[in-house]
Amino acid sequence: MKFGMCTLSDFDVTGKTVLCRVDINQPIDRKTGTLKDVTRIKGCIPTLKELSERNAKTVLLAHQGGDLEYKNYFTTKPHAKILSDFLGRTVKFIDDVTGPAAREMINNLEEGEILLLDNVRFVSEEMTLFETKLNLNEEDQSKTQVVQKLAPLADLFVCDAFAAAHRSQPSLVGFEQVLPSAMGRLFEKEFSVIADIMESPSRPCLFILGGAKIQDAFMMMNTALKNGVADKVLTGGLVGNIMLLAKGIDIGVQSTDLIKKMNLTEYVEIAREILDKFSNKILLPVDLAYVEGDRKEVAIADLPVKDILVDIGSLTAKTYKKAIKEASTIFVNGPMGIFESEPSEHGTKVVWEALAESAAYSVLGGGDSITAANKYKVEERISYICTGGGALIRFLSGEELPVVKALRYAANKFGCEER
Ligand code: 3PG
Repeated sequence: MKFGMCTLSDFDVTGKTVLCRVDINQPIDRKTGTLKDVTRIKGCIPTLKELSERNAKTVLLAHQGGDLEYKNYFTTKPHAKILSDFLGRTVKFIDDVTGPAAREMINNLEEGEILLLDNVRFVSEEMTLFETKLNLNEEDQSKTQVVQKLAPLADLFVCDAFAAAHRSQPSLVGFEQVLPSAMGRLFEKEFSVIADIMESPSRPCLFILGGAKIQDAFMMMNTALKNGVADKVLTGGLVGNIMLLAKGIDIGVQSTDLIKKMNLTEYVEIAREILDKFSNKILLPVDLAYVEGDRKEVAIADLPVKDILVDIGSLTAKTYKKAIKEASTIFVNGPMGIFESEPSEHGTKVVWEALAESAAYSVLGGGDSITAANKYKVEERISYICTGGGALIRFLSGEELPVVKALRYAANKFGCEER
């Protein structure tokens, strides 16, 4: 037992059916089914290898994309192939989650075998919007389809999905209500490293928040500023554009329409409230970039432009670079723009390279942020790369993550059986 949760060392898994929730959610090309990054898949290999070597029958539950990340919503079939390559043994796959075909395959697993089920978010109760709008309590979670159908087939639940530990969804917090449960090795490692840094983070502590996961970003920004964990917050990507709108800056019809189309208008008001309270701690872009044939930049005072804003400008990138140099601890979640394409990558590239040069303890998390770190070849020079983005930042805000709460509940209810 560690931090009030059971670990894999506490259980004898030989011959047992282990339901293991992993987070192997990666950016994906939906046309070809090609994964653009495999960092998270690699991250859960130690747990899977250990389960297989200890002769467990392992059933993997995972999501790929979702309602908040629809561009990556896809089957988990391609992941089975990559998992097999990393493990040097076949990971079976079935395009089913809770149906009779999946259950039969689980029942027929041999010791040491691993089976990956299809995207658990294909089962509707799992979706993120349900989590926020329906707000199922723990007991409700255990009555959902996925838990009712799969838990009776298993002896143990293992959660290795630290990256999704901030989600209160059935496959993450439901099984702990009815099965003995443990954290996997990746979960254990991420939790330990971050808990250590949090004991006494060196100041000033800088948060860099960008990307398009707006709901997470604003929740984190608010809590980290309120709790005093963040001394300064740098904003970019869609997060930065929403902050600018909140300040009453006209960012142009196309960029404003995008925010409306993504149903994010309510965040403009949330951003305004945050700015009212903490404007002295938040850095906003002073210039931005758009693409009109090639990359063009515009100062905030010269907005609006008709084209969509896709990156922070060079002056902003330079200011952020300076702030990074002055920080002692840095947490990063979300890129500064659409770094995947050349005309809009400058901001992310400069900021990520500044992180690599910085002497601060830097922690970078989240799928897109990791992909960018790989692209700019800075992974080795970031102090710690965490598979979680949202989970990392929510952890830092001092909240007990829903999955941690559920694992502690299971440890109390079922105990940690001695090996
Ligand atoms: C992530 O990408 O941060 C995790 O996989 C969680 O995904 P979600 O934000 O779609 O829940």
